[in-house]
Amino acid sequence: MTFLFNSDTRRGAVFQEIFARELPDLAFSTDPATVDPETVRYLITWTVPANLSRYRNLEVLFSIGAGVDQFQIAEVPDHVKVVRMVEDGIMRMMQEYVTLAALALHRNLPVYVDQQRHRLWQAMPQLQAPERRIGVLGLGILGRAVLEQLKPFGFPLSGWSRSQHEIEGVNCHAGDAGLEAMLAETDILVCLLPLTDETRGLLNADLFSRLPQGAALIHTGRGPQLDHQALIAALDSGHLSGAVIDVTDPEPLPADHAFWGHPRILLTPHVASVTQPHTAARAVAENIKRMRAGSDPVGLIDRRRGY
Ligand code: NDP
Ligand code: OXD
Repeated sequence: MTFLFNSDTRRGAVFQEIFARELPDLAFSTDPATVDPETVRYLITWTVPANLSRYRNLEVLFSIGAGVDQFQIAEVPDHVKVVRMVEDGIMRMMQEYVTLAALALHRNLPVYVDQQRHRLWQAMPQLQAPERRIGVLGLGILGRAVLEQLKPFGFPLSGWSRSQHEIEGVNCHAGDAGLEAMLAETDILVCLLPLTDETRGLLNADLFSRLPQGAALIHTGRGPQLDHQALIAALDSGHLSGAVIDVTDPEPLPADHAFWGHPRILLTPHVASVTQPHTAARAVAENIKRMRAGSDPVGLIDRRRGY
């Protein structure tokens, strides 16, 4: 029985060391070319290899990242469990990034960065944290972690998900009516949704028009959720005041794309959060132990929902 690691060698070495300790009876390979495909029970990868069908005894397909939208799940045999990455390292990095971005927007950093380029010394009026409402799209592992991290600053917090949640100190909304209500009371909108048929293109002109004048966007979900032209139009008209964008479509962003030089956009190259090998290897080993004990793995994908 083999665990096949199909990703970068640096992280592979860490997984191999931790698996040798945690699951000594499980063979470990980082080389699809030499592994006997019949022995592969577990495969971890970012994209599904073209020759997946050769792993006839595959039981679990793990994503090396938190999302699984890069998999064509319909092409993965039904009996194979698809599991996304849930690990503390990803969570902590996302907490850092969204906190950084929220504070940057709260303290008008895009404006001051632009003023610096123009050698302009000019103070903006500054709202206090209780006057700046933050709304998070997606109340999963990452959305909830981010909200917890933001609590001490005193921003009024709200969140939106498919099903209704209850989180202390967070005004939780669900469904279409919930989205409408949340947008109307959000000054900084954070997107932490998985990419599905329902969330593709959600960040569009209609959604922006429902945010209050001067609102801002932090996009750390997936590129295809955002209509780029609609964002530029909303920023150029002054309806939105700024955006911190970590994910785009396509990635990398073409050199001539308008986001690069836009004075109200802070752009990062899909680095909000990255799987951390030590915590990830321990989380995946723990998941294999859970499955061996008859429980579902943490992060099991519901194929009907797509996340
Ligand atoms: P989870 O699966 O734990 O949470 C997803 C959340 O989104 C849930 O609250 C879910 O609602 C909600 N949701 C899904 N579809 C809808 C919908 N149609 N309408 C309303 N709410 C919806 O995911 P994570 O928190 O772990 O990760 C979220 C995403 O973050 C990833 O899928 C990925 O796209 C992105 N990501 C980005 C990274 C980066 O570096 N930029 C790094 C890691 C992740 P419910 O609770 O009701 O199920
Ligand atoms: C992920 C990502 O899904 O890096 O982990 O976006």
